[in-house]
Amino acid sequence: MKPPTLSPLAYRRLCLVAVVALAAIVVTGGAVRLTGSGLGCSTWPQCEPGSYTSAIAFRPLVEFGNRMVTIAVGVITAAVAGGSLLLRPRRRDLVWLAWGLVLGYVAQAVLGGLTVLYKLSPLLVMGHFLVSMLLLWDAIVLHRRAGQRAGTRPRSVVGPELRWLARLLVGTAGVVLVMGTFVSGTGPHSGDLGTHRLGLISLRDISQLHADFVLFLTGLTVATLVALQVAKSPAVPLRWARILLVVIVVQGAVGFAQYFLHLPSGLVGLHVAGATVFWVVTLYFSLDLSAREPVTAAEPVVDVPSRAALPV
Ligand code: HEM
Repeated sequence: MKPPTLSPLAYRRLCLVAVVALAAIVVTGGAVRLTGSGLGCSTWPQCEPGSYTSAIAFRPLVEFGNRMVTIAVGVITAAVAGGSLLLRPRRRDLVWLAWGLVLGYVAQAVLGGLTVLYKLSPLLVMGHFLVSMLLLWDAIVLHRRAGQRAGTRPRSVVGPELRWLARLLVGTAGVVLVMGTFVSGTGPHSGDLGTHRLGLISLRDISQLHADFVLFLTGLTVATLVALQVAKSPAVPLRWARILLVVIVVQGAVGFAQYFLHLPSGLVGLHVAGATVFWVVTLYFSLDLSAREPVTAAEPVVDVPSRAALPV
């Protein structure tokens, strides 16, 4: 019997589902922290000793609900990894990226468990968020590559100066995210009342530093946008750069508002969601600075010969 196969276009759609799911879980994870439900389940992988399900109470249900979302993301990740093996023609680059998601998922499950066991240590919570950003990176590269034909060379659609500017922009975006987690680790939203906080510098100073990097990033994004326009670059990167600038301005406004309003949970939740959207847009922007031939519905199907058919 022939094993089932997957077309390149169907696989690309599956990868997009993974991108959406991996972005969504950052927001549901943020909801756990912001409703103080981090210790809604007192242990892991069980919720309470002797029970995998939670009590019918707000905080345990929020934490338990997030664990259910985690399972859904696990199923999608497994489908993407399994799908990479069923894809015809099979692509080594996609197999690596897809199984990288499995590795990252396992790392997140362990890190999530440690976070509960170590009573929401800020460094572990920060690590948990940042590994999610790496997973999103992997999923987005996978989604883009899955839409491009195997073995074709990437062709830069902008000049080398713009590529350097874009690299600096992506690097700064990463620094802004890391700085943001330091602000969260210092601020009051630990996930549960009474958890110790990072005390490296005051909340005011760390927020100031975070905002300074955001201002630098805003300048870089404006410069990139102007350079793209002057160089008459193709529409796709130009559109991403415009969207990125809007996202940064809105996210920056939410950032200042939450700071001056003393960090109300609703605005902080919006800021976590905004940070995720910001990272997704930054990555698609940088990937779309180069192009490869797209896959088509009529992609040649190369059958991998079964063992029995191989010459001895
Ligand atoms: C592009 C713009 C921005 C991005 C991408 C960004 C990103 C982030 C991230 C990733 C976090 C950590 C979220 C978490 O660990 O759950 C964070 C937290 C924070 N950010 Fe921003 N940020 C931006 C702009 C700003 C600005 C302009 C301010 C103004 C002061 C600001 C103030 C804060 C504060 C106060 C927190 C801590 C919230 C908490 O208690 O959890 N952010 N930011």
